[in-house]
Amino acid sequence: MKGIILAGGAGSRLFPLTLVASKQLQPVYDKPMVYYPLTTLIESGIREFCLISTPHDLPRFRQLLGDGSQWGLSIEYREQAKPEGIAQAFLIAESFIGKDSVTLILGDNVFYGGDGFNRAFAEFTEGATIFGYHVNDPERYGVVEFDGEGRAISIEEKPKAPKSNYAVPGLYIYDNEVVAITKALKPSARGELEITAVNVEYLHRGELRVCRLNRGFAWLDAGTSSSLHEASAYVQTIEKRQGIKIGCPEEAAFRNGFLSLGQLEALTGKIPKCEYRDYLAELVAETKRLKAQ
Ligand code: DAU
Repeated sequence: MKGIILAGGAGSRLFPLTLVASKQLQPVYDKPMVYYPLTTLIESGIREFCLISTPHDLPRFRQLLGDGSQWGLSIEYREQAKPEGIAQAFLIAESFIGKDSVTLILGDNVFYGGDGFNRAFAEFTEGATIFGYHVNDPERYGVVEFDGEGRAISIEEKPKAPKSNYAVPGLYIYDNEVVAITKALKPSARGELEITAVNVEYLHRGELRVCRLNRGFAWLDAGTSSSLHEASAYVQTIEKRQGIKIGCPEEAAFRNGFLSLGQLEALTGKIPKCEYRDYLAELVAETKRLKAQ
């Protein structure tokens, strides 16, 4: 399974923050926003990534994440010249996807809580798997409607009269057919290749699975100044209370076996003195203590 992180777009809702650095590079509490979706996919076992952004912002992402080898990953980069739709990612990354299945995550989606996605990844074989999350304001999102047996029966993009409160978050799992499906799409009224149109096609084929995310799961929006601030406050609250970090790629790579203890220790040693380094140093020390028992 390959992973695409889509981190382009105009970022106009965060002006003037986005004059110099794109939305997905803004801090969510103690890390750049893109660390969170990257970590979500690492936790799901993905190791090969393609990050897509604007020609203007791509060099910054490259500077931040490099080729991924420091974390036992591989990260490629591709440009999206204009924001012509989320689904365009599959055309831009076609050679990266090759013959594999693929997960797309939006670079401004922050998820936290339990193993919400793990089961879906483990059980995925073909077709498409997307998620449903109960929200107060479904009209802002793709909205999925379920029948009495919990089967998805419709999906609409930003409907004026939503048929349910279940929004579709920005994490999508597809088989290789997604490339052909996207190639056959026509741009929508807003001039975009819509991800919802891809999902509707899988639904019509009878190959769409929609997993409802449970109550304990957090899906945070970081798209406006106010929601960005709230996402930061949420991360700070959890991290302070639990003493664990959300969205830490080093830790996720280590826990998934992409980095050995020795590699994590060496990596930690290169980080300047700061709280982030202390956190990883404690992870190394704790692992050694447990091994010695
Ligand atoms: O957040 C989940 C929602 O994302 C879904 O429920 C919707 O079905 C889906 O269409 C999308 O909704 P938005 O219209 O709110 O997405 P937006 O245009 O804000 O783009 C989402 C992110 O993807 C944003 O960080 C910018 C990036 N993006 C978007 C487009 C259209 C790109 O990098 N390139 C693009 O062409």
